[in-house]
Amino acid sequence: LTVALLFGGRSSEHSISCATAGGVLAAIDRDRYTVIPVGITRDGTFVLEDDDPTKFALTAAALPEVADNGTRVLWPDNARSRELIVVDDSGRRSLGSIDLVFPILHGPYGEDGTVQGMLELVDLPFVGSGVLASALGMDKHFTKTVLQQASLAVAPWRTITADDWADAPGMAYAALEELGLPAFVKPARAGSSVGVSRVASSDQLAEAMAVALAEDDKVLIEAGLVGRELEVAVLQGRPGEPAHASVAGEVVVTGRDFYDFAAKYLDAAGIELLCPANLAPVDLAEMQAIAVRAFEAIDAAGLARVDFFLTADGWVINEINTMPGFTPISMFPSCWLASGYTYPQLIDELIEVALA
Ligand code: DAL
Ligand code: MG
Repeated sequence: LTVALLFGGRSSEHSISCATAGGVLAAIDRDRYTVIPVGITRDGTFVLEDDDPTKFALTAAALPEVADNGTRVLWPDNARSRELIVVDDSGRRSLGSIDLVFPILHGPYGEDGTVQGMLELVDLPFVGSGVLASALGMDKHFTKTVLQQASLAVAPWRTITADDWADAPGMAYAALEELGLPAFVKPARAGSSVGVSRVASSDQLAEAMAVALAEDDKVLIEAGLVGRELEVAVLQGRPGEPAHASVAGEVVVTGRDFYDFAAKYLDAAGIELLCPANLAPVDLAEMQAIAVRAFEAIDAAGLARVDFFLTADGWVINEINTMPGFTPISMFPSCWLASGYTYPQLIDELIEVALA
């Protein structure tokens, strides 16, 4: 099978997508798959990338990047053709016919239904959620709205638009007052904690709003929850089978304010990741059941990672990631490795389910 791996992209999670692609390039079974790495630059240009996992390693010193190397990948533009074309200095040549796309993109213009819409339009099978679930999972306001409607607990929140903040900032201060401190201020549509601040007093709100509004013109103010931070990975079942969840991973924050971008990818000091987490079997079973319900509530497909807080009042969903990270420290693969899969088997499963 020929798989086009699509990564990079226009969002602020560009480098994380590259690191995720590095993880997949290193693990995918080369006897079974021919891989065509297609990078999307930060400005949205599709280029033919190197099939070199080491090129996309993520280190604190260098965040990996798709550079414009002058090539142009032309996407199939109709539902009858699956031929991928590259144009470079030597002209135009076919990269062959692709069987499946693995859009391993994080954030807007990749994880939000836009790319999924393009692929559905030309009838190319792909790994992961379709347009609706991708769009819902990307937008924290609508994720919470839909989960609440499905009777699943989410942290209380208020949504403030850029116009609200400009015209009536009192709304945001009132929301903070109502939700209590500490609170989290988050862009509605971003990931990897980009643009997220913890607000411990109301005089920190203006700065936090500015940081979040730099990412998105819609911002959530969310009540900070007290409890353990746990994550679980979900895989779609084979035809006729329900989705299933992995063992849980836990993020233990010891020496930092919260699990922010730097703690995720640059410097893990003050953070401990445990997988599998130490959870009573009954608690794990409940968490897994809620994760599957959340997966179904947004109509997800393929895969997701569902992030929770275990509070005194029980499980509260923080968010759903429809294309979770696959970096070496990422919870999605770690949870499946701890559940008995090998990394190549996990990729096989994602591909098999997408083609089923
Ligand atoms: N948004 C990042 C990649 C994650 O959820 O893992
Ligand atoms: Mg996220």
